[in-house]
Amino acid sequence: MNGPDILSAAYDDDPYSHYETMRNDFPVYRHEPTGMYVISRHADVARALKDPPFTNECYAWQAEPVMGGRTITQMDGLEHASYRRLLGAPLRGPDFRRRVVPGIEQASAELIEKFQDRGDVELMSEFATWLPINIMSTLIGLPEADRPRFQRWYLALIAHMSNLANDPDVAAAGVAVRAEMTAYLRPLLQDRRARPGGDILSALCRAEFEGARLTDAQIQVHLATLMTAGGDTTVSAISNTIKNLLLHPEHLRATMADRSLIDRMHAESLRLNPPVHLILRYAAEEVRLDGGVIPAGSTVGCVLGAANRDPARFSDPDVFAPYRDELDPGREFTPAGSLVAFGQGRHFCLGAGMARTTVNIAVNQLLDALPDLRLADTAELRETGMFTRRLKKLELCFTPKAHPTVTV
Ligand code: HEM
Repeated sequence: MNGPDILSAAYDDDPYSHYETMRNDFPVYRHEPTGMYVISRHADVARALKDPPFTNECYAWQAEPVMGGRTITQMDGLEHASYRRLLGAPLRGPDFRRRVVPGIEQASAELIEKFQDRGDVELMSEFATWLPINIMSTLIGLPEADRPRFQRWYLALIAHMSNLANDPDVAAAGVAVRAEMTAYLRPLLQDRRARPGGDILSALCRAEFEGARLTDAQIQVHLATLMTAGGDTTVSAISNTIKNLLLHPEHLRATMADRSLIDRMHAESLRLNPPVHLILRYAAEEVRLDGGVIPAGSTVGCVLGAANRDPARFSDPDVFAPYRDELDPGREFTPAGSLVAFGQGRHFCLGAGMARTTVNIAVNQLLDALPDLRLADTAELRETGMFTRRLKKLELCFTPKAHPTVTV
């Protein structure tokens, strides 16, 4: 008997129904089609994410070819620490509120304005998929008119990195985007070197590592990393937080009345429906885990989605329970949290604070602008994705705000 086939259509439709089987009956198993070892228990996944002999070497074949160079996710030691400082600076820091928050508020309000008078919205295509890319392209310093192109880029790059089935069309599309990015960025980087501004592009043009300025190719890798890491993940976090609130009217009412609860609802949504379900690691030596033994030299698939629902870590794990004892919303957006949704250890998500703020602003504004927000009768709530996972659609309706009538 084999463990669940993570490449099957049934698994894509509903991985959750396989997670219990994985944790109980196949806590460490070799997935024959890919040759990787799959682990799913919270203790094992948390350990593989942060402790030796597990390493991030697999990003060398998963990310590097399509990103065009070494990504922060595969770095170690001093190099990793330097790039965390460089890439992290624009995403956090003491002046984050003044520098970044007004832009997020504006980006969210602009999207809501387009549908708030209508009474219905498909939240994925009209809001959630745009908000992160609109925010990131402003921060990076990319032209507003090209946002649809940036969205197409990051989706193609993610698809390439998730292409365990080796689909040749997906592989070709990712490589084509890499070349397109190189040509697109060349004049833009020349311009920023001549006329630097306050954006991330300018900061990367100024940055030095070991006494040398970053090359165009290196800058491209980091931009592509920020787009892919912050894009679909935040899309999923926004939409799942709204979905879970609408499925639980008592929590929606409480959150309407007390907006400080949004972090709690968001954190529990990250546990129940994490934006990242699968992360790869490499076992540099043979290692014995709670669930079994992994041979030296293996690629390891860490199933975050299953770990976040492990009853050994979270009571009643398949239920949306934002007040559960194991959850501390103040810590869940830091490496000290109980979830593995943002990873663990030194590669803990660099954008967790940014994601927290974005979801907070988005949920606040949606609840303010769309009275009586509810799921449409036609809403299906189907998800897709093996590495990053999100709703296909989120059809909502609400009572449009009445405009004051103008009498002449
Ligand atoms: C709810 C939203 C998000 C989730 C669930 C998420 C999840 C993750 C996870 C699981 C990792 C660890 C990968 C690993 O260990 O192999 C990670 C790393 C990372 N994330 Fe996020 N992420 C989110 C939002 C963002 C945002 C908004 C940004 C930036 C704009 C971002 C940038 C990064 C970067 C740069 C890394 C690599 C850190 C390193 O290797 O040191 N993420 N993220």
